[in-house]
Amino acid sequence: MRADVAHEAHVLVIGSGGAGVRAALEAVRYGDVLLVSKSVAGKGGCTPMAEGGYNAALREADSCVGHLEDTLKGGAYLNDLELVQVLVNEAPDRLQDLVRWGAVFDVTETCQVAQRSFGGQRFPRTCYAGDRTGHEMMMTLLEQLRASDVEVLQEVTVTDLLTREGAVVGAAVLDRTGRLEVIQADSTILATGGGSRVYDVSTNSATGTGDGYSLGYGAGAELIDMEMVQFHPTGAVYPYDARGRLVTEAVRGEGGILRNAKGERFMSRYDPERMELSTRDVVARAIAREIQEGRGTPRGGVYLDVTHLPAKQIEERLPVMLEQFLAFGVDIRKEPMEVSPTAHHFMGGLRITPSCQTTVRCLFACGEVAGGVHGANRLGGNSLAETQVFGKRAGEAAGRAPSRGQHPEQRQLDLIERRLEGLLSGMVNPVSVERKVQLAMWKGAGVFRTGPELTQTLTEVEKLGRKKLHAASKLNLAECMTVHHLCTTAMLVLKSALLRPESRGAHVRTDLTQAHDAANSPYGHTYLSQHRSGIEMKGGKP
Ligand code: FUM
Repeated sequence: MRADVAHEAHVLVIGSGGAGVRAALEAVRYGDVLLVSKSVAGKGGCTPMAEGGYNAALREADSCVGHLEDTLKGGAYLNDLELVQVLVNEAPDRLQDLVRWGAVFDVTETCQVAQRSFGGQRFPRTCYAGDRTGHEMMMTLLEQLRASDVEVLQEVTVTDLLTREGAVVGAAVLDRTGRLEVIQADSTILATGGGSRVYDVSTNSATGTGDGYSLGYGAGAELIDMEMVQFHPTGAVYPYDARGRLVTEAVRGEGGILRNAKGERFMSRYDPERMELSTRDVVARAIAREIQEGRGTPRGGVYLDVTHLPAKQIEERLPVMLEQFLAFGVDIRKEPMEVSPTAHHFMGGLRITPSCQTTVRCLFACGEVAGGVHGANRLGGNSLAETQVFGKRAGEAAGRAPSRGQHPEQRQLDLIERRLEGLLSGMVNPVSVERKVQLAMWKGAGVFRTGPELTQTLTEVEKLGRKKLHAASKLNLAECMTVHHLCTTAMLVLKSALLRPESRGAHVRTDLTQAHDAANSPYGHTYLSQHRSGIEMKGGKP
């Protein structure tokens, strides 16, 4: 197996979700852009599946400062202030880009973009297109992509980022036939989305295996707050194959009510002020607690009820939910849904500057693969905005970077080739390793965590990560590499979780008692790279 330089570009974008496509559209203003996608472009990733909406301060009565304060409070003050400032200040303009390109958001009677309530926000600032907002955005972005000069390579799996003298100079990829190819680029943008597929129950599509975290880590980049995994409070409970599927927060935004099996509106015990529209970490914990303490439904969830809403409101504002549950045999206009927490989003990721520069030269990151924007808990609706704000910034910064035309190091290519050849004579089925990791993570690194459980899970995952995976043919090499990325990502979550000796946002250690609250925490980011790891001592309210 020999890899030659098959493609050259000024900017290589890895990932075809909202952030990747937005980055490519910006970068192409400065030079040749190659976008590579593990799936059919725009069909994998989380953006097309995102239902609820896009946060932006648009009204007189709202403000970017209000958006900023809600995001910091929701994030348990672990967010990078500068990144949040960028997000809230630029979200309205990036929304306008989408509208200008033809995205159809729902509008008010006066033809302004309509906004709905989402959790942890003092103002209804979530813009939406029914409950298929991400899909509408993605279709719009893809239309722009098709009309642009961006070259797109689909169904390719990135095995490694290639480096020379400490800078990233491109990537090694497997095409859909298992052929190894080298892409040389002046700048590389990781926009690979999240890694919630490391869990057994997840809202993510099959592509959410954390490839970008593993690739960045492999190239020497630093990651922060990888322990901060958001469990969306409301995932589908049944049928078995649909477990974990997203039941949008918009259901609660429209007035949906949570009840346990005893009929109690239990959120009054956990957040009597905000009730169902509390932040996700609080609602997920409340639901998990109700189920754990025996007040869950026989199928292991709680009820989410919209039967008190007018049928017309459900039909118009929640059409995807209506259709999805009808397919499961439940008419949500007449009976409640059953929901429970599901792994949804990584708040942590590659450490970036406001220009999306990572800690490795010539490597940029945007979207879910980057850390710092959301702190310890993301507000629903901030992610779609993040894809556009930081996608544009990453594309611009990478595009403006100088042309260098540097070749990858042959030594690294030789190593990659040898590793892939080794997979052809490996012994262990990658699918079985993937399943074992997902089950172990669900059990040992879920909504509630303890030190001993995290340590035990880490030992287990590291052992699974060392297995000699078997590719039955070249066609299966990509699957093995994906499982390698999944194992590395799970390991990063566990190691980071062990670095944080406190409960904060989505990271809850039930074996620790603590005197401080989030606003007064002495801790900042956890950080982890091949060179160093630890936890910053600052944190707390800025
Ligand atoms: O619940 C939702 O619709 C998800 C939105 C988000 O994660 O931003």
